[in-house]
Amino acid sequence: MDELVSLCKRRGIVFPSSEIYGGINSCWDFGPLGAELKRNIKEAWWQATIRGRGDCVGADTSIIMHPEVWRASGHLENFTDPLVDCKVCKQRFRADHLQSDRCPTCGGELTAPRQFNLMFKTFLGPVEETAAIVYLRPETAQGIFAAYKTIMTTGRLKPPFGIGQIGKSFRNEVSPGNFIFRSREFEQMELEYFVHPEFAGKAFEEWVEIRYRWYLNLGVNPSKIRIREHRQDELAHYAKACVDIEYLFPFGWQEIEGIAHRGDYDLRQHQKFSGENLTYFDETTKERYLPVVIESSAGVDRTLLTFLADSYRVESERTVLQIHPTLAPVKAAVFPLAKKPELVERARAIEDELRRAFSVSYDEAGSIGRRYRRQDEVGTPFGITVDFQTIEDGTVTLRERDSMTQERVHVARLNELLAAKLKHNV
Ligand code: GAP
Repeated sequence: MDELVSLCKRRGIVFPSSEIYGGINSCWDFGPLGAELKRNIKEAWWQATIRGRGDCVGADTSIIMHPEVWRASGHLENFTDPLVDCKVCKQRFRADHLQSDRCPTCGGELTAPRQFNLMFKTFLGPVEETAAIVYLRPETAQGIFAAYKTIMTTGRLKPPFGIGQIGKSFRNEVSPGNFIFRSREFEQMELEYFVHPEFAGKAFEEWVEIRYRWYLNLGVNPSKIRIREHRQDELAHYAKACVDIEYLFPFGWQEIEGIAHRGDYDLRQHQKFSGENLTYFDETTKERYLPVVIESSAGVDRTLLTFLADSYRVESERTVLQIHPTLAPVKAAVFPLAKKPELVERARAIEDELRRAFSVSYDEAGSIGRRYRRQDEVGTPFGITVDFQTIEDGTVTLRERDSMTQERVHVARLNELLAAKLKHNV
């Protein structure tokens, strides 16, 4: 884990936020490569979950919502963690994360647990008064439930259908940590799938399978990913059943995504609190019902950490991120074999051409071996070397990251070759 954190820092993938001021606990910035990687993960999710399916649509709802949303959803009352303070060193801990009833740092006596709400509060407008209190959303899901009727009506949707979105969520976690695994500001990719109550069980099983396969299709090692069913006493206040998709991180098995059978809890609550009729009327069967929701909720940051941890390899002569080409931040790097004007000019022209469709980089510094290593370390799947033969016959060397094999291909074929190798297959 330390090596991975250090690689992320060294290559500007992920690093502490506001570092020039000493950083701020558990807030992270994503540099150029991290931003590309994050976008690619979100794009792969969006393609698999929204665009690639005929029954799901996307949304992008507001982070700040009417405060009644959180009363209706149960978050104001139930979205809490048990917090204890050490009476000696004053540190705070989540009571359910402790192994004993003494402070893990100094052994001091702990206070009795009290419930601490994880939602961040702020004020809407210039007056800081109780009536103006609003919350930063702790999950994107409620935005979907609050907009469900409008989206369903305007899109003429009929259950079963899904509404998905990707966006920031905020939780004032008592004990954030493990790099970007648990932070206070993070992104979620959530799908709420609305079905007739009779088909909920089948939809739940299908979504568990679809989501588990998504990770495998993106190259995650099958022996390091598992599905774990929640015990009754673990279930969130809204869930009838839930499974976690877990990954074996260097710090143990941990949740990366939850798939929950939310029943009709959310729509029923919002119907009650808003007074809006949220039922669906089926014209064919003449049945009116409140759809049941199957939810898939994955964290972008945790997923990103999963892909990094899973693809990080230290070999005898190189460090390599064997990340799926679809996710790789940079798809190809172009190298002139030497800093000769004719090679540089040709390499720059190839870079410019590929840049129209792919994320590419250009590197002319150091030996070609070193340049390959630099790209291996950040997971660039292809290296394209321009040499004197390129000037003569228009061919370049195409080097593949994992096998390190090299083949001679014509420049005119590069676009098509890369497109075929990088095509969305997930
Ligand atoms: N809408 C359901 C929901 O939010 P959750 O299990 O609380 O369920 C879903 O969160 C996912 O969001 C988690 O599996 C995790 O990937 C991500 N997540 C939750 N809290 C997080 C945190 N503090 N930091 C990073 N990711 C987090």
